[in-house]
Amino acid sequence: VEAVRNFVVVGHGVDPEGDFTLNDLCGGAGRLDVLLRCVSTAFFLSHGIRKDVELFLVLGRGPKTVRFRAEEMRYVNPDERSTGALVRNALLKRLDGTGEKQSSPGIHVSRRSFEEVVSQLPSPIWLAEDGEPWDQVLPEVAKGPGGPRDLTFVLSDHHDFSKGEEAVLHKLQARRVSLGPASLHSNHCITLVHYLLDRERAPGP
Ligand SMILES: C[S@@+](CC[C@H](N)C(=O)[O-])C[C@H]1O[C@@H](n2cnc3c(N)ncnc32)[C@H](O)[C@@H]1O
Repeated sequence: VEAVRNFVVVGHGVDPEGDFTLNDLCGGAGRLDVLLRCVSTAFFLSHGIRKDVELFLVLGRGPKTVRFRAEEMRYVNPDERSTGALVRNALLKRLDGTGEKQSSPGIHVSRRSFEEVVSQLPSPIWLAEDGEPWDQVLPEVAKGPGGPRDLTFVLSDHHDFSKGEEAVLHKLQARRVSLGPASLHSNHCITLVHYLLDRERAPGP
């Protein structure tokens, strides 16, 4: 069994009730395009999908969380618009209470907050430009006594984390890790994380 790679991406501008049009993903939808690129980057390979991945889109204006689970996913394609439609359908789903509902195979929606989501995931790693170097931290956290550990990478969208979100990450003692000095797009960070962990798993050229 491979270690699971969880990604938590916080979107600060997206309407949590799905009140936006798919014709304006980069504008009126609150930069949902940024989050959708994270979805396709996290799951899709050239010919296939990564089965060992779970991704949580947490909407800061919620609380609302859309969870994608690779093993159950159907009808998810790499393009932004069709994934945008699946996210919108999830947000439009009626929710009573705090439980999770499935809106399409492998896509689940709930009123869970950032804190509720991250506190239930293993080994949170807060990706930040000015964090500790990856090469120093990852060997420490990625391997447990029984083999590779499940990890959780937490990133923000085009905005910084809010003060409240930062407080949650401090409270949960998330390690702050940098992928280098440049400020990268969220989905590019996901590509690098996959690359670095893949290389660890099967050192190659
Ligand atoms: C586009 S960046 C955030 C933008 C920037 N903080 C700003 O407001 O101009 C999106 C997210 O990617 C992650 N990120 C970007 N560059 C990174 C790097 N060099 N190392 C680690 N994480 C990075 C961080 O989690 C960041 O919140």
